[in-house]
Amino acid sequence: MDIERRFACIAHMEAAARRRIPRFAWDYMAGGIGREKVLAENIERLDQVKLRPRYLVDDADAPDTAHSLFGVDFSLPFGVAPLGLSGLIWPAAAEHLARAARDRGIPFTLSGMATSSIEQIGAIGGHLWYQHYATNDTAINSDLLERAHGAGFKVLVVTVDIPTLTRRDRDIRNGLSVPPAIDLRTLLDILAHPAWALAMLRQGMPEFLNLKPYLPAPLSLSELGVYLSELIEGHVSIDKLRWYRQQWPGKLIVKGILDAEDARACVDIGADALVVSNHGGRQLDAAQTAVDALPAIRAAVGGDFPLLADGGIRNGLDIARYLALGADFVLLGRAFMFALGAIGSGGGVHAMSVLQHELRSTLGQLGCGEIRRLPEFLLREE
Ligand SMILES: Cc1cc2nc3c(=O)[nH]c(=O)nc-3n(C[C@H](O)[C@H](O)[C@H](O)COP(=O)(O)O)c2cc1C
Repeated sequence: MDIERRFACIAHMEAAARRRIPRFAWDYMAGGIGREKVLAENIERLDQVKLRPRYLVDDADAPDTAHSLFGVDFSLPFGVAPLGLSGLIWPAAAEHLARAARDRGIPFTLSGMATSSIEQIGAIGGHLWYQHYATNDTAINSDLLERAHGAGFKVLVVTVDIPTLTRRDRDIRNGLSVPPAIDLRTLLDILAHPAWALAMLRQGMPEFLNLKPYLPAPLSLSELGVYLSELIEGHVSIDKLRWYRQQWPGKLIVKGILDAEDARACVDIGADALVVSNHGGRQLDAAQTAVDALPAIRAAVGGDFPLLADGGIRNGLDIARYLALGADFVLLGRAFMFALGAIGSGGGVHAMSVLQHELRSTLGQLGCGEIRRLPEFLLREE
């Protein structure tokens, strides 16, 4: 059966990926923090967003999915979210997704904790965004920004929602590390997933390639963990953000905003956009969903300020729902990893094409001819 039929939607890809990815890597990707309430809510709250179709209109026969964000034209209103350690979930994930995003004309965000380097991704080209985790060393921060700018990244995304070391129970139990520490349990896990194991064998074990130049070599696995947790600064103050604004010549996006005052502060220091996000339910198990946080943040920043949102998007309808709620653009994380896990290197292109078809069909069903009109179709609860 061809992939069009085997994987008609992201849910089909998710089911196949779960079978093909070793348990420790699956848990790292699919899991969240605490009892995983927010992880579940991201999907549940999105599911509750209702849209009102208009059938007696005739201007939406060929809906247009193209969309622009801060003056840049994209073929679709979504991009690839930053995913740290993605090379552990599927070998060379960042390269595969960067190529797919380039070919589809949408943005790809490289995580600062990626296992592919800024330079490798820069060579692929396309709309490249670099996501940065602030380190406590100004020289390293400056160098990373210079490398990203030199490699052709146009947008800097500073993530602010990891102020403290994250404790995820599944990962603690699995003894997750990079590269994976091979005990008997992990070995059996890997052997039970031959497609992943073969792809990993061809690619080589993942490493934190972006940070490698700054690491004192050689470090044992446990030393590396301690070193990295001390290097990554955690709390990003507004003064720090101001520093990034001064240093970075391109667009600046602040990711991980859930509070209206935080949002205003970002606007005041000259950020170009925000990502309303709870980090895919991975940081605080009592956080608001982006669906619930968007209205107050939109009110705080005004109608024209670019807002992105993420969390829980699993199909084209979900993309339309966020845009109807007032987001200007959205990011997807796990959906693309499910696609790679299910299909391998071609998964990204297939997932993007499925999402595009679903989005176009949603627009058609609504009677909405273009993306920017989606808020007109939101069914507002009284
Ligand atoms: C495996 C994984 C790794 C992630 N790594 C990062 C990261 O390095 N930087 C970051 O800003 N967000 C990171 N995130 C959060 C995503 O960028 C995004 O906010 C989230 O995945 C959106 O939810 P979704 O997975 O339901 O689409 C990660 C998410 C996952 C699932």
